[in-house]
Amino acid sequence: MSQSSLWDRLFRKKSIQQLHDESSQRDVDGHSLKRSLGLVDLTCFGIAAVVGAGIFSTLGKAAADGGPAVAILFLLTAIACLFSALCYSEFASRIPVSGSAYTYSYVVFGELVAWLIGWNLLMEYAIGNSVVAFSWSDYFSNLLNGFGMPLPDWLQTDYYSCAEALRNQNLLEEDAAKQAARSKLIEIWNGAPELAGLRIILDLPALMLNFIVTFLVYVGIQESKIVSNAMVALKLSVVIGVILIGAFYVKPDNWVPFAPNGATGVLLGISSVFFTYIGFDAISTTAEECKNPKRDLPRATMLTLGICTCLYVALSFVITGMVSYKELRVDDPLAIVFSKNNLNWLSGVVSLSAVVAMASVFLVFQLGQPRIFLSMARDGLIPKRFASIHPRFKTPSFATIITGIAVALPTLFLNSQLVTDLSSLGTLFAFVLVSGGILAISPNDKSHGDGDKSGFRVPYINGQYIVTGLFVTYNGFMRSMPSNHDLTRDWSWEKFPYLTFYLVFLVMSILTWRKQWSVIPVLGVITNLYLIAGIGHWNWLRFGVWCAIGLVVYYLYGLRRSRVAS
Ligand code: ALA
Repeated sequence: MSQSSLWDRLFRKKSIQQLHDESSQRDVDGHSLKRSLGLVDLTCFGIAAVVGAGIFSTLGKAAADGGPAVAILFLLTAIACLFSALCYSEFASRIPVSGSAYTYSYVVFGELVAWLIGWNLLMEYAIGNSVVAFSWSDYFSNLLNGFGMPLPDWLQTDYYSCAEALRNQNLLEEDAAKQAARSKLIEIWNGAPELAGLRIILDLPALMLNFIVTFLVYVGIQESKIVSNAMVALKLSVVIGVILIGAFYVKPDNWVPFAPNGATGVLLGISSVFFTYIGFDAISTTAEECKNPKRDLPRATMLTLGICTCLYVALSFVITGMVSYKELRVDDPLAIVFSKNNLNWLSGVVSLSAVVAMASVFLVFQLGQPRIFLSMARDGLIPKRFASIHPRFKTPSFATIITGIAVALPTLFLNSQLVTDLSSLGTLFAFVLVSGGILAISPNDKSHGDGDKSGFRVPYINGQYIVTGLFVTYNGFMRSMPSNHDLTRDWSWEKFPYLTFYLVFLVMSILTWRKQWSVIPVLGVITNLYLIAGIGHWNWLRFGVWCAIGLVVYYLYGLRRSRVAS
C-alpha cells in the first residue's frame, strides 16, 4: 500500500448521497425500518435512555464530595451538553440516517475518525451499561435485604474494589466514611471463599441482569412504544415524587456550607454528573424510524435535555437538603434520604421503582449497541457476522451476544467508579468531535449538507469576542482554581489533561478571532474538553490505551476490508 493511498484510505468519506442511496436500497430490499416515531415518542425514548443509574445511584458520591453545590455542577454540565445537543440536532437534521456520531464523522472527518468514534461508542453503550448493572444491583440487593433474604457480601460486591481496598489498606484516609467503606471491603475480601488460590468475589445481581436482558434482546423482545412510555412515566413519577415529598423534609441548615470541599470537591463529581445526561444523543440513532426526523429530532433532543436538567437540579437541592451531604456516600441515595427521615415505606417504594426504571435503561442500551455494530459491519469495518440476523428471531444475534460479553467483562473485573469514568470519557470524546464536525462543515457546501435548508441549523453567533473574552477570563482565574488547573507552577502529570485543554482553548480562541467561527460549536468543543480534563490523567491513560488498541484493530481489519471506496 503506497503512502498516498494509505492516506486516502484513512480519510475516505461517505457522502450524503451515498447514505441516501444505501437507505433507498434498504427500502427496495425491504430492509428499511418502519417510520412510526413522533415527537412524544422520541422525547420519551430520550428520557428512557437518560434517567437511570446516574441519578438513582452515582449522584450519591458526587453529592458527598461536592456538597449541595453539586446542583451547580448539574447546571454547568447541562450547558456543555446543550452545545453538543444543538450540534447533534443539526447533524440529525442534515443526515437523518442511523448510526449517530459514527455516521456523522464518516461524512465530515472520514473513516479513521469514524472508526474511533464507533470504537468509543462501545464505551458509552457497553461499558456504560456496566454502570447501570452495578447500580441496579445495589438497589436490588437492598430490596433483598429488606425482604430478609440478603445475599452474602462476596456475591454483591465487585472484585476490583475489594482488591484495591486491600492494596491501599495502609494508606491513611481522612474522611471517616471513606475509611469505613474501605474496612468493609477488606472484611469482604477476607470472608470470601477461595478457589484455586483466587478469591471468589463478584456482583451476581449485575451479571444476572446482563444475562437475562441479553437473552431477551436475543430472542427478539420488541420494546413496544407503550411499554417504553409506561417505564418513562414510572421513572418520572418517582423522581418528581422524591422532589415534591422530599421538599417537605428539607432542612436549610444542610445547605450550609454550600461547597464544603471547594471547587475541587465539586469537580470530583464531573464524570458521575455527566453520566446522568448520557443518552440524549441516542435519540439521533432512531433517525430512520422517525416520521419527521428533520423537525422532531432537534425538538426531542432539546426537550429531553431541558426536562432532565430541571429535574436533576431540583433533585440535588432536595436530597442535599434532606440529609447532610456526608451521609450521601451510598449507592442508593434516593432511597436513603427517606429512610434517614424515618419514611421506610417510601424508601422501599423508591427502591422498587428504581429496580424497574434502571432495567429499562439497561434494555435501551443493550438494544442500541448491536445496532452500532450492525452499521459498522455493513461498512466492512468489523466482520460481517456482526450484521447477521437470526433466521428465526430476526435479531442481530451475534452482535447481541458480543454485547452481552462486552458488558459482563467490565462488570466482573472493574468497579462502578472506573466504568463511570470511562463511559463518560468515551461519550464526551464523541461530543467534542460532533461539535468539531459542525465547525468543519460549511452550511452551503452540498457535499456535506443535502442542500435542503428546511432542517435545523445551529444558530450562528459570531464567537470572536465571546470566546476570546472567555479565554482571557480563564487565564485571569487560573491561579485561584483547583491546583491541577494552575499551569504556571509545580508541573506534574496530573496537570496534563488541563494543559491539553488549555492549548486547545488557546488555538480555538485564535482561530475564532481570525475566522469569526460560530460560538456554539466552539463552546461545544471547549466545554466538553474541560469536562474530559476533569476525569483525570489516569483515565486519560486508560482511554489512550483503549484508542491505541482500536487503531491496531482498525489497521489489521477495517482498513483493508472497508466497503467505502476511496
Ligand atoms: N444517563 C444514563 C443513566 O444515568 C446512562 O443511567
